[in-house]
Amino acid sequence: MANPKPAPSKLEITKLAATDIDAAITTIQLAFADDPFADWIYDRSKFSPKRNHASLTIRMKWGMRNGHIYVAHTPERKCAGVAMWVGPKPLDEKQTWDDWWQDWMLWFRQLGMNTRFGRGGLKVKRYYLWKESQSKLQSSVWTNPEGYWFCNILAIHPDCQGKGIGKALMNQVFDIADSEGVPCYLESSKLEPNVKIYEKMRFRFVKEVKCDDGDGVCTLFSMIRDAPGKGAEEESSSESSEGSGKDVDAVIDAVTP
Ligand SMILES: CC(C)(COP(=O)(O)OP(=O)(O)OC[C@H]1O[C@@H](n2cnc3c(N)ncnc32)[C@H](O)[C@@H]1OP(=O)(O)O)[C@@H](O)C(=O)NCCC(=O)NCCS
Repeated sequence: MANPKPAPSKLEITKLAATDIDAAITTIQLAFADDPFADWIYDRSKFSPKRNHASLTIRMKWGMRNGHIYVAHTPERKCAGVAMWVGPKPLDEKQTWDDWWQDWMLWFRQLGMNTRFGRGGLKVKRYYLWKESQSKLQSSVWTNPEGYWFCNILAIHPDCQGKGIGKALMNQVFDIADSEGVPCYLESSKLEPNVKIYEKMRFRFVKEVKCDDGDGVCTLFSMIRDAPGKGAEEESSSESSEGSGKDVDAVIDAVTP
């Protein structure tokens, strides 16, 4: 694997381009190397980085068309961090034909990948248990009729964590969500330190769910970031919303990975 370490130079945040995908995936794989969810859903002794790379490539291509993916990178496009979001959909909205078609395309591509690479250590029973638990969790905590901005990947290169890059990446969507008056949502399998980190971004913990197949448990912590003026935790909102917008410049100068 080529050394993806971003050089100590300026970072910028842009939408993911097709040419950024490989570097973004390397950053994701490094950031999630000790992730509790990944440890639970994969048999690490059989884990195939190649298959995982193929799976994430499919996911990124889907996200470029159907979601919003931001990357923090150096001028040489070395990737310091990546955030993938899916935009809000009204809770009562029926799936459109285009969404339906895109889901099928995703499914066929994943089938092709499984045929080529096998499961690469993925514990299939646990995968379906997670999907079911996630769906129940979201049904129980998603109450905003206009839906939620859903952050389903956030990964900062291990050499770049704790330098404000995660927050700067998230601010790209927080600004949009706040102006629309729509809340944001995420799930983390890491209580410490992630819940605290997300609280700094004005998320609040809402519920935890245990995915337990009798042989191992993975806990998902779900968090919501209310839109300004609509939150359950309105008093704390002024503290972090002021960070939106200004953070990218601060990060550009602060990062010396
Ligand atoms: C979790 C993660 C995305 C956060 O991104 P980051 O760039 O490291 O976080 P930031 O530097 O932007 O920090 C945001 C805030 O959290 C605080 N923070 C950062 N690391 C912290 C820690 N270990 N403990 C407590 N607070 C912390 C920062 O001080 C900052 O607060 P401030 O706004 O008051 O200054 C990143 O660490 C990561 O990729 N971790 C591994 C993969 C992962 O867990 N991804 C998330 C899956 S849900």
